[in-house]
Amino acid sequence: MLRRAGPSLRHFLLERNSSAGHSLCSREAKMSRPVQARRLEGIDKNIWVEFVKLAATYSKVNLGQGFPDFPAPDFLREALTRALSGGNHMLHQYTRAFGHPPLVKVLAQFFEKLLGRDLDPMTNVMVTVGAYQALFCCFQALVDEGDEVIIIEPFFDCYEPMVKMAGGTPVFVPLRPNPPKDGKLMSSADWQLDPAELASKFSERTKAIVLNSPNNPLGKVFSRGELGLIAELCVKHDVLCISDEVYEWLVYDGKQHIRIASLQGMWERTVIIGSAGKTFSATGWKVGWVVGPDRLLQHLRTVHQNSVYHCATIAQEAVAQGFQRELMLYGKPESYFVQLPKELQQKRDWLIQSLDGVGMKPIIPEGTYFLVADISPFKSDVPDVPNSDEPYDSRFAKWMVKNKGLAAIPLSAFYSEAHKNNYTNFIRFCFAKEEATLKAASDILQKWKQEKTSS
Ligand SMILES: Cc1ncc(COP(=O)(O)O)c(C=O)c1O
Repeated sequence: MLRRAGPSLRHFLLERNSSAGHSLCSREAKMSRPVQARRLEGIDKNIWVEFVKLAATYSKVNLGQGFPDFPAPDFLREALTRALSGGNHMLHQYTRAFGHPPLVKVLAQFFEKLLGRDLDPMTNVMVTVGAYQALFCCFQALVDEGDEVIIIEPFFDCYEPMVKMAGGTPVFVPLRPNPPKDGKLMSSADWQLDPAELASKFSERTKAIVLNSPNNPLGKVFSRGELGLIAELCVKHDVLCISDEVYEWLVYDGKQHIRIASLQGMWERTVIIGSAGKTFSATGWKVGWVVGPDRLLQHLRTVHQNSVYHCATIAQEAVAQGFQRELMLYGKPESYFVQLPKELQQKRDWLIQSLDGVGMKPIIPEGTYFLVADISPFKSDVPDVPNSDEPYDSRFAKWMVKNKGLAAIPLSAFYSEAHKNNYTNFIRFCFAKEEATLKAASDILQKWKQEKTSS
């Protein structure tokens, strides 16, 4: 039986702790055991921390990080208000761990339409804390020590550390730019995989490939031919595909987003990742999902169950209502999934025009809300630092935010350490911004150009 410590024992313990206090502290000071888990080695530095801070400190106009500065649609905000203050107080409590039933049900209905196959909302869909956690679950659940994971460069930066944290080895394959003839502006479609180079990266150690179409940062929308090539190699080498499709609705110029899971032999080996943040312009809500076969999702559920367990019920309820609306309006002009890309295409074209006007050559994105521009004509303005191992575009972006008040992200941030010095002439802008924000960015660039020509 447990007995409470009486006054004398308590007194003894207090005495002992206070007299040991001094030597305990000095022992702590001398502690030499490494505290950091080995799996964090080499991934503890993150360029975003630095650039987000720089933007917060210096920027007058922030086209750096990828989020809209315009409001989420009324129907979504109203759905959240209803969920928050409506009669169902159970929306303030836990819901089903793998996804709030109304949300997984409507996601299953939606993806049945998109993929042309029957889906079970309980086993083929899982809701996550943003697409970020969906990615984390994929790597933790599917990648083992020693497995290789192919990543197409440039890539959304968290893929590499997530593969490493799972014990895997990232293997990089670049999209290679083919400059267009006739002095035309480059398009993201001009960045292509070399089929032989891609094939050379697959081996019996390859467990998975990460595909991100539409791609952040370039805005590339992979064509059916390119997806067919990737699919063929996945099937041939029995490789999984982690398909990050968070920008699936943001495609322009009549382009079509093709889901690799709909290609021959791919459903069984593909997990599709989505994000309500990107889909409904509400990145702060952090609602994401995974759609895929149960044989893969069952392992993701194990990771989810034992890490995050659950996402905010209220946000899931509102996103479910958003999808119910979109299901009803599917393909109609009033649909947000039709309206948003239309509006963004105008913003994209506006930014393209103003960048081109000052000589910062934009690469026309076919999708996403990002645009990469060639800074070569402005490079000479920024003092070089000889022998620095920091890529030039990174120094350029830092200089630009400090001296011009305009925040953007260097393209090298989307490359592996080994390849970050290969493409240092580019910076990425986000154009999911109010007209006034884009106009303010354009004014900064115009003024800069005038200063350059008059000096
Ligand atoms: C390609 C890509 N995947 C995933 C994410 C993360 O999405 P979420 O905000 O839903 O976690 C982002 C966010 O910028 C992204 O660009």
